[in-house]
Amino acid sequence: MRLSVIGCGYLGAVHAAAMASIGHEVVGIDVDQRKIDALSKGEAPFFEPGLPEILAEGVASGRLRFTTDMAEAKGAKVHFIGVGTPQQRDGYGADLTYVNAAVDALVPYLSAGDIVAGKSTVPVGTAAELTPRVEAAGATLVWNPEFLREGWAVQDTIDPDRLVVGVPSTDEGAAAVDILKEVYAPPVAKGTPFIVTDLATAELVKVSANAFLATKISFINAMAEIAEVVGADVTQLADAIGHDDRIGRKFLGAGIGFGGGCLPKDIRAFSARAEELGRGESIAFLRQIDEINMRRRDRAVQLVVDGLGGSVFKKNVTVLGAAFKPHSDDIRDSPALDVAVRLHGLGAWVTVTDPEAIANAQAKHPQLNYVADRDEALRSSDAVVVVTEWDEYRRQMPPEHVSTLTEGRVIIDGRNCLDAAAWRAAGWTYYGMGRP
Ligand code: UDX
Repeated sequence: MRLSVIGCGYLGAVHAAAMASIGHEVVGIDVDQRKIDALSKGEAPFFEPGLPEILAEGVASGRLRFTTDMAEAKGAKVHFIGVGTPQQRDGYGADLTYVNAAVDALVPYLSAGDIVAGKSTVPVGTAAELTPRVEAAGATLVWNPEFLREGWAVQDTIDPDRLVVGVPSTDEGAAAVDILKEVYAPPVAKGTPFIVTDLATAELVKVSANAFLATKISFINAMAEIAEVVGADVTQLADAIGHDDRIGRKFLGAGIGFGGGCLPKDIRAFSARAEELGRGESIAFLRQIDEINMRRRDRAVQLVVDGLGGSVFKKNVTVLGAAFKPHSDDIRDSPALDVAVRLHGLGAWVTVTDPEAIANAQAKHPQLNYVADRDEALRSSDAVVVVTEWDEYRRQMPPEHVSTLTEGRVIIDGRNCLDAAAWRAAGWTYYGMGRP
């Protein structure tokens, strides 16, 4: 099928390449010429495992191309909208500028019977507002939220754990369901749940899924706060409650909390939307989820201060990690970098290293010192802080080896990803998050 994908960021670029890889003819459209130039050469403009391969394959096959010219959307049967919905500059709500601009730019090129499928995460009610503009062109608007995780985006797109499509309750809506099933034929054939809803439910599915995930993380981080005062171990607690399959162990990783381009801004936008709808109290707890999350960054900074005897001023601190999570070069709302910046603000000499995110981090926070080589970054350090659980720090960093590089023997495990006993046995003072 001929498809267009408007917006070629994390979501759109992966979606376009994944749709080409399952046999569709896809044009990806973005206003950013540099991004389009890279993608046209089959190069990924950001780090995402597996993406370079399917991009190069798609471009070489002729089924995948990229352009800045919206007119090239003409002739596609389904037009996916995958532009960003960032947090507003002066508020907590979602900024819908890019969604509105994408729809307005696309409408002149729509043909009767086309489908416009929104994938961006939007405040509930957005699809209803956009519908008249799309229907005036004889096309049908549906909402098809995306649940991909950075680092696993290709796999999550080609083989999702569920597909959700919100459609209007019209004949056109029913026809759109059949067409979307054709688009997603391989996962549908595999029996992947395909859930058809109305537009508002589909929009809500996405934000409530992210709100639930954020709540799970802040719940365990709240338990970490309690564990800290009584000398309990939150990682054992998470294992023990996680065995109950009604609870589940996933997303009970206590540490410096969640960041990235989705969870933080999505829960804030959800709260803002609920308030607009007069239902602010229904999800007032999400404000606390956000507060707990931010407090864990303070806690990590405090542990470094404590570990260094009450002050980090003019101390060498090595920060292992900059990306908001491993397998990503994304530093948007990264708790890792936030901790590094705060330590720098307290007068520490901060050296940051990361396998993928240094260039992005350096552009945003040039005041920090960046070193690509991990061992070089550890040299002469007074305290080491693990803030992104890359394998390079988690599995492939024996304490005996680190002892040969650093000055001090203080390690703060902001992700509870190290073997505390092994570090202590090697003569280190180990601090975890919510661990004795
Ligand atoms: C998230 C959702 O998982 C995904 O379904 C949605 O489409 C987009 O938002 P992503 O932002 O890629 O995906 O990251 P995710 O893997 O969810 O991690 C988010 C943050 O939570 C990271 O900073 C991670 O380090 C943190 N986290 C995750 C924890 O602190 N503890 C955990 O147990 C799990």
